[in-house]
Amino acid sequence: MKIISSPLELKEQLKEVHKTVGFIPTMGALHEGHISLIKKAKEQNEFVVVSVFLNPTQFLKDEDLDKYPKKDEADKKICELSGVDILFLPSADVMYGEDEVALLAPKVRGYVLEGFSRPSHFNGVLTVVMKLLNIVNPTRAYFGKKDAQQLNLISLMVKQLFMDVEIVPVDTVREKDGLALSSRNAYLTPSHREEALKIPSSLRTASAMVSKGVLDSKEITSKMREVLAPLEIFYVEILDREFNQISHVEIGNTVILVEVKVGTTRLLDNIWL
Ligand code: PAJ
Repeated sequence: MKIISSPLELKEQLKEVHKTVGFIPTMGALHEGHISLIKKAKEQNEFVVVSVFLNPTQFLKDEDLDKYPKKDEADKKICELSGVDILFLPSADVMYGEDEVALLAPKVRGYVLEGFSRPSHFNGVLTVVMKLLNIVNPTRAYFGKKDAQQLNLISLMVKQLFMDVEIVPVDTVREKDGLALSSRNAYLTPSHREEALKIPSSLRTASAMVSKGVLDSKEITSKMREVLAPLEIFYVEILDREFNQISHVEIGNTVILVEVKVGTTRLLDNIWL
């Protein structure tokens, strides 16, 4: 595995690679969720590139970027063992300069749900993903369904800006007890981790209601809110795959999304029905 930190050097190297390229952008502190994206990319492509870049522009001013877990050495080992061909590990100053061109998230879809409490977050996500995709120029890029709004906005960007990459969604990987894997779980104390189980529990409740034929969005979300209490809820929403609100679950076209605060940590999760 090669480790490269210069965008131009990576572009040069990839010019020599006449193969299908799968790309997985990450912010590091890699876990089984990230590894499942790498595995899928390995299955579908001849060459795999992973980036680890803690992107400053997607954190708001009051969010503690310095607290985000950093595990470069472990990340290198995980990539090596997973059969990654190139690990791209750039620093912030090679990725950003002064007085930059940047992308704006769409005014509606970028400012609801997570974008409502974190305005400008998705500007940073889209800008860095655009930069990374331009550097790697992959055949396919892999994103987790866990960050459903991010996945939706990146797919929209690729479509609306006529970009030449296939976006591949990957299922959420969970702990045995149902908690979705997240680099942020490292912030949870044992008691907060216990409380966080209300999140998958609320999603299981929703799914059980739908199986019994309850399709009314209000009825389902109010039951989910009961399960989540007393956690601070940012949102519980039932949307179609285009991210429009729907009054009734439409099997095959629905995402149920939750974001809550556990201790000081924001955790999000969803199910696709
Ligand atoms: P990060 O949080 O490191 O996530 C990298 C990728 O892993 C994302 O596509 C995310 O959805 C996926 N992922 C995270 N947890 C997962 C899980 N439990 N199961 C499956 N996939 C999971 O998302 C980002 O980084 C950044 O915003 C990024 C896109 C890299 C831009 O900076």
